[in-house]
Amino acid sequence: MQTPRLPPFDFQPQPYTGPSPDEILKLRQEFLNPGIFLYYKKPLTIVQGKMQYVWDETGRRYLDALGGIVTVSVGHCHPEVVAAAQRQNELLQHSTTIYLHPNVAEYAEALAAKMPDDLKVCYFVNSGSEANDLALLMARAYTGNYDMIALRNAYHGGNSSGMGLTAHRTWKFNVPHSFGVHHAIAPDPYRGVYGRDDAEAGRKYADDVQSLIDFATPGQVAGFIAESIQGVGGCVVFPDGYLEHAYKYIRAAGGLCIADEVQTGFGRTGTHYWGFETQGVIPDIVTMAKGIGNGAPLGAVVTTAKIAAALAQRVHFNTFGGNPIVSAQGKAVLEVIEREKLQANSLSLGNHLAAGLERLEAKHNLIGDVRGKGLMLGIELVKDRATKEPAKAECAQILETCRNLGLLLGKGGLHGQTIRFSPPMCIHQADADFILAVLDQALAGV
Ligand SMILES: Cc1ncc(COP(=O)(O)O)c(C=O)c1O
Repeated sequence: MQTPRLPPFDFQPQPYTGPSPDEILKLRQEFLNPGIFLYYKKPLTIVQGKMQYVWDETGRRYLDALGGIVTVSVGHCHPEVVAAAQRQNELLQHSTTIYLHPNVAEYAEALAAKMPDDLKVCYFVNSGSEANDLALLMARAYTGNYDMIALRNAYHGGNSSGMGLTAHRTWKFNVPHSFGVHHAIAPDPYRGVYGRDDAEAGRKYADDVQSLIDFATPGQVAGFIAESIQGVGGCVVFPDGYLEHAYKYIRAAGGLCIADEVQTGFGRTGTHYWGFETQGVIPDIVTMAKGIGNGAPLGAVVTTAKIAAALAQRVHFNTFGGNPIVSAQGKAVLEVIEREKLQANSLSLGNHLAAGLERLEAKHNLIGDVRGKGLMLGIELVKDRATKEPAKAECAQILETCRNLGLLLGKGGLHGQTIRFSPPMCIHQADADFILAVLDQALAGV
């Protein structure tokens, strides 16, 4: 079998002169959080990036098909995004909301223009966890209710409220958490009780939301939060109609509906700009991070003026939220997505990649399921298609082989059994074909 070759790319990375990987590892082991994990047996050091590619310290190039964990939306160091941040860096790096600054105001206007209906009021924060924390506060302040419904298999952040909403043991510390949060059954058509052959699966899964309202709450809730596709949970796509029914039950119980678009926003799903649109719903609150800033520490919450008014009962302040530099960078990201038609690229290359993954599924028994939308795709690996036993070790092995062949992928799912594909939306067909060729070889080697 021939070794697949990375598509040609006319770019010369700078020579790297910093500490060696061993030295970095030593520093990290001595001075950084011991709980953080590394992906590969021989850790990978990345020192430069350009569009869909990154380089290690030796100058070796890799295709970044994970996009810095779904964060590099328009390409590493996209020239327009870099220029926007650099221009602002030289003028004024920081002000806060106690003064006027054009960047945050103009950025809010541009972001609001992307939202449907009267979702027009923007709050800027520094991360997805913070965005969800604020959304939770908003739902409670507006409704006067306390209980929240989230989903099993969800990931919403690593701060204490995000951890409470999250529903994987992996990320939950054994401390008081999940105050008032109840987790409904994950609407997972592959592992759940209602499969893709059940046209009513969306409603049937949503009935568990109603059941929680009836049996686990006073009958009134503050709200419901869901990712539009579960990312960390392994790219789980809900059956049609799920959010529509869940939202109906929540609103009838006085609650607000929150869409966590941290991974699914900004055109990544291809057919729509926002993931919730793929389910035909309009939330009351939308949270964003990751791809919003193409790598800048930026998150946002967008809601209606009526809901925002509830949060004006007290001062809500965030020192860095909407900082002039990240606002410039976030606005440039919106412009690049538009000008370079990256949503359309997500759709066509996502479809191309998904079709190739389905061909690999026909060839390799290890693939139990192929799923996703646009450039947010996943393949779940199983030891046996009948028992669906998660193929955790095989998944890790495939990631290692792919890395050795120049391809960086992600993994997800409770057991780390699902390979995830979320490259920058600027990839070309040759990149998608490279992903498929490398994966084919890696799967054959298991
Ligand atoms: C769907 C979702 N929400 C929230 C978060 C938390 O974002 P952050 O890590 O920026 O706090 C993540 C992070 O992976 C995420 O995937």
